[in-house]
Parts: sequence; C-alpha cells; structure tokens
Amino acid sequence: MTIDLSGLPARAVSWNKALAARPGDIDHHVPSHQVEGEVPASLRGGRLLSNGPGWNVFGDRIAHPFDGHGYVRSLAFGTDGSVALKARFVRTEVFVSEQAHGSFVHRGLATNAHDPFWKNLRLGTARNVANTTVYRWNGRLLAGWEAGSPHAMDPVTLDTLGPETFGGLVQGKVTLAHMHRDERRGRLILCNTAAGRNTKVTFHELDREDNHVQTRTGELSGGAFAHDFMFTDRWYLLGGNPLSVRPGRLAKALLGAGTLLPAMKANTTRPGELVLIPRDEQGPTRRVRLPGPAFVVHFSNAFERGGDVVVDACIFHDFTFGEEFGYTGPRTPFDPSLPEVRGAQSFYRITIPEGADEATWEKLVPHGVDFPRIHPDHEGRDTPYMVGACRADTRFSDPFDSILRVDLTAPGSEPVLWTAEDDVFVGEPVIAPGRDGEPDHVLVILSDGQRERSTLAILRADDLAAGPVARVRLPLLPVAFHGDWDPVGVG
Ligand SMILES: [Fe+2]
Repeated sequence: MTIDLSGLPARAVSWNKALAARPGDIDHHVPSHQVEGEVPASLRGGRLLSNGPGWNVFGDRIAHPFDGHGYVRSLAFGTDGSVALKARFVRTEVFVSEQAHGSFVHRGLATNAHDPFWKNLRLGTARNVANTTVYRWNGRLLAGWEAGSPHAMDPVTLDTLGPETFGGLVQGKVTLAHMHRDERRGRLILCNTAAGRNTKVTFHELDREDNHVQTRTGELSGGAFAHDFMFTDRWYLLGGNPLSVRPGRLAKALLGAGTLLPAMKANTTRPGELVLIPRDEQGPTRRVRLPGPAFVVHFSNAFERGGDVVVDACIFHDFTFGEEFGYTGPRTPFDPSLPEVRGAQSFYRITIPEGADEATWEKLVPHGVDFPRIHPDHEGRDTPYMVGACRADTRFSDPFDSILRVDLTAPGSEPVLWTAEDDVFVGEPVIAPGRDGEPDHVLVILSDGQRERSTLAILRADDLAAGPVARVRLPLLPVAFHGDWDPVGVG
C-alpha cells in the first residue's frame, strides 16, 4: 500500500513521502563532478552515519516511526571528493521475522499489529527495531533503541552482528538509545533504566577496548521518562521528567485496543527537575529544582565552571506522546501540522550553583530547537557553539525547515540561521570537526518528498547563513533520527 495523499497540501505530501520512503539496501556512488560545490578537504576520508526508521508502511498499516525498522546509512567521503552512500536495515529479530512475513507482526510502542484487539494481547517478541541512534565504537557500529539492547554492525559492510550486551553487562536490560563518549577519558557511557515505584538508573563506563571501568546507580522519582542524559567530570545528569498515566488510554492499551505510548503524558503538576548522580564514586542522587515545569528530551551538553554545573538542553514545558512526526494512526496520512498544536521545545542554559538544590535558567534563542549537537570531542566540557534543527517560524518546532547555530560564548546573542527551500525538511545537523586549521562543518540531510530526493548539505559551521558549500543529491531516504560523525570512515 502507499499512503493516500489525494487532496493533501504540498507540504503534507512531501512529509508523507519522506516518512514512507523505503529504498532498502543502497550502494550508490556520487562522483566528485556530480557534487554541487566541493567536499571540503577536512571531511575526506570520514563519513556521516545516520539511523532512523526505514520501513514504516506495511501493507495497509502505517507504523508510528518509533516502530519502523532501523535503517543505517553511511555517507562516506572519498579522498577524491566523491561520496559513497551505503544503507542497510538492522537485521534485528523482528526485522527478520517481518521481512519473512512481509507485514507488521510484532506489536510496538505506538503501533498495534492487528485490528481485532484480542489478537494484540498475545505476548510476543519485544519490538526492538534498533532505529534511534548509531555510534562508531571500538571497531563496530552500535545501533541503539529505547527499550532493549543496542545492535552491533560491521562498520564497513553494515552487516548486523547481533544484539550488543558488552560482555553481558547490559544483558536483558533497557539500555537508552542515546550513549555518550567522553573523549577526554576515552570512555563510552551507557545508561540502563528500570521501572518500579521509582525509576532506577544505572550508568556504565567502558574504555576504548570495551573493558568495564565503573558502574554507578541512582533514582528518578516515581515513573519517569528517560531518553537522553549528559555527563560532566563529576556528575551524570538526567531530566526528572515525571510521567503521569492517562487511565483510559492505559486501559485500552492493556486490552489490546490501544498502545502504550499515548497512555503517557508529562506530569506538569510536579516542578521540573534535573537529577545529578555522582560519577567518581557511588553516592546519593542529587535533585535540583528548575524554575518551571520541564521535560528534557535531548541534552546539548553539560560542563563544570568552578563548582557550578552548566547544562544546555532542549526543554518542553508540556508533552503528550503518540503524535510525534504528525502520526495520526495506522490508516491515515501523517499530518505535519499536528506538532504545531503542542508548544515548541526551547533551548535553555541552566546553571546549578555548587551545592544548590535549585537552578536558574535562561532561554537562549526564541526558536523551537531540537537535535542539539556540539563538537563531538567537547561533550562534558565547555564548548564555543552548538547547532540544532528548528523552524524559521519561532512559534513552531518540528518538522524542521532550518538549522541554527548558537554562540555559547555570548549567551543571548542572535542565532545564525539557514532555512531550506519550501516543503523540504531538515534532519539532525551533525558537526564534523575541522582538521589542520580548517573550519568545522555541519552535515545535514534534507528530505524533499515532492521531488523524491534527499540531499546531503555541507555547510561551514562558522557561516551557516551562507548556505551549503556542497550539496550531494541522493535517492529519497526515509526521515532519520540521529547520526554521528565517523572520522575513521570505511578506510
Ligand atoms: Fe533522541
């Protein structure tokens, strides 16, 4: 089935085509003379990695993108200025099963497999689709998912190697899709969560050879939503993100007539909170109250300044689940105007004074910002700028049409913005650090459903407003979630 797009405005058509694209395995070479502009020298030999759902339409059923199968893309820059796109599905247990069936078989977080409710009550395989993040780590790629183990992939062939438990360390645990690298200490940091009366969180650190270095534990109060975290030299940080349950929707989900995701919402009756867990030694969890209701989905960074902790994060003041990407259900098209109904998330700098249990915050830009990224070597310490995805219209956030740069050396200064053409959607911007005195670059994939093509746009990080210095035209790729800069590339 294709989604019925008759009568939809151009923007909705473009968005639906980008979400429904399913090109499958790709090995595509763009020679340097077909690149519009020139691939900067400091990118050559490296690559952009990206992951997101690559199969969202199954027969007559449209899956919520959170339930689409992980599809990892590698955009490798040759030394001659060419670009090689390679894309493969993550061959998880549920992917292999659904490929064999040719249909949506395993119930997900936000998509049911069957219309008759009782058929959804069978206990089946957890729908780990490994579709959220991708990181290069110690000779393999790690494709993360929200509620199970990541999957390891061969970094060159993109063949799936299987679930990654780090030698059993996270076997059977919920490992957050977001992981972080502390480049100064040469560590990969993972976070496990476990539901209970309170939400237990466990941080693990691995060195560059995958040796387990340390584990620390803490707690979020009550039921809480954890998607991303951050770290500094002394702390791990999470949003307190209290959840409340919508009882009617939970009952429907338990009866098989609804799904779990829309049964949750942000609990705005409780103040916003950041939770700090000591990193150097096991110690008590520290809770820091924020000035207003806050729901942190993505952190940009955190670092220490004297004894203070400074945290940059994208914050919702309220949040309901289930309508992400304009999802309207398994039979109806995505509606890109749906996210406009909820308030946009804002980019805040939060300052936690030494020993304090209350923080202050400053909204740094008027735009709704998500997908915040910084220089990959600077996580956990001060960094001069961030980039993120946003809308030129400051009332709204996703689906994004722009990227912005925020000067963190002058908080409150005007952001620098670049906006794509009409009805072209902007993904997560990833920073590729410059080498040998060259500037950093920002890599972003643009989705143009109308023209049925994607474009890899390369911009100078210090001059976003000038627009791309190079554009690489590609087949239409499905909308992605998160990516990573891989300086090692495929060579
Ligand atoms: Fe995320």
